[in-house]
Amino acid sequence: MALTITGASVLGETTTDLYVDDAGLLVDAPVAGAEVLDADGLVALPGLVDLHTHLREPGREDAETVLTGSRAAALGGYTAVLAMANTSPVTDTAEAALRVLELGREAGLVDVQPVGAVTRGLAGEELAELGLMARSRARVRVFSDDGKCVHDARVMRRALEYVKAFGGVVSQHSQDPSLAGPTACCHEGEVSGRLGLPGWPGIAEEVIVARDVMLARHTGSRVHVAHVSTAGSVEVVRWAKAQGIAVTAEVTPHHLLLTTDLVSGYDPTFKVNPPLRPAEDVAALRAALADGTIDAVATDHAPHARHDKEHAFVDAAFGMVGLEQALGVVRTVMEGFSWADIARVMSTNPARIAGLDTQGRALSAGAPAHLTLVDPSATVTVDRDVTASLSRNNPYHGRELSSRVVHTVYGGKVTVRDGALA
Ligand code: DOR
Repeated sequence: MALTITGASVLGETTTDLYVDDAGLLVDAPVAGAEVLDADGLVALPGLVDLHTHLREPGREDAETVLTGSRAAALGGYTAVLAMANTSPVTDTAEAALRVLELGREAGLVDVQPVGAVTRGLAGEELAELGLMARSRARVRVFSDDGKCVHDARVMRRALEYVKAFGGVVSQHSQDPSLAGPTACCHEGEVSGRLGLPGWPGIAEEVIVARDVMLARHTGSRVHVAHVSTAGSVEVVRWAKAQGIAVTAEVTPHHLLLTTDLVSGYDPTFKVNPPLRPAEDVAALRAALADGTIDAVATDHAPHARHDKEHAFVDAAFGMVGLEQALGVVRTVMEGFSWADIARVMSTNPARIAGLDTQGRALSAGAPAHLTLVDPSATVTVDRDVTASLSRNNPYHGRELSSRVVHTVYGGKVTVRDGALA
């Protein structure tokens, strides 16, 4: 059904009405009989795109499903999410990717674009069916063993060579297993020493980032650094970009806001991989997002059931939810960011990196109407129980975040109206 969105200011600048036709495309003039969506005083952004979402289906439907994760995404202002491959079974075949795509279409709230595994079963040894996934209807372009690092340099080299043929990208979980150790559960530093917890040093991430940018240069292929978390990784990415190497990087909302001292209470809500880092790293990540060294904010939304998360710190699962709070966190921490900056790091850059249609992020006539309408002056106090996700491992519980997603429009369809699922 046609839609008229009244009174929104596009990227916080010109205030205008936006018109959507029956096909869900933005058009220049109102369509007779259109439904009206009041956006007076709201900022219109292109629909947000998340490069890094764990939807848990198939396999762990107790923690999240494609439907519940899509709902959380829509509430967070997203119109597209990249669904990570570490499901059970793993998304390492065209058939598995198509299944995720279909589940996303059935949910019908956001584009659910499957990420393919780099290696079979995420085992790090043999390449998965990269070409078949790319050529399937799922059109997979992003490949990742996320949760695990593609640590064997020979395998990583082959993967980069392979995806180059179809303009794909390898999104790497950068973590050298020989430096990180199997029991590491938080950042290695003063806090881990005091608590007696085994830690990951920042260097375990940095050596892989450094190796991978050199492999990208050698192969002429594209590498994406998932969830960058240290100042040293930022330095490497900055250097590589200056050399013209095809590297992109994402940072999570939690690495932009939270620091390793939160681990002091042994609360497993703050256990995540890569771990929360010291304030110096957080400052470097913010600066790198501001200067374009880091291209995108990606949630790494990692829902976990209570019985996996509520354990002693060393035994609990890694990960935090984040789809519903990402925009609020970015607005809260990135002082000086314009709405155009937010659109760049949360919509257009991620769409470009993922090889999605970037037209839908243009907010101009002829483009699919994917829109996020935000109240810029509202604040929200996060309550982990107010969520569409099946999981409650929310590290922002009790915090006040700036701005609020009021409406989300996905291909002309209102998915969220007045802050609630439509
Ligand atoms: O904390 C994390 N959780 N980091 C990852 O890389 C994987 C994720 C998960 O799947 O739970």
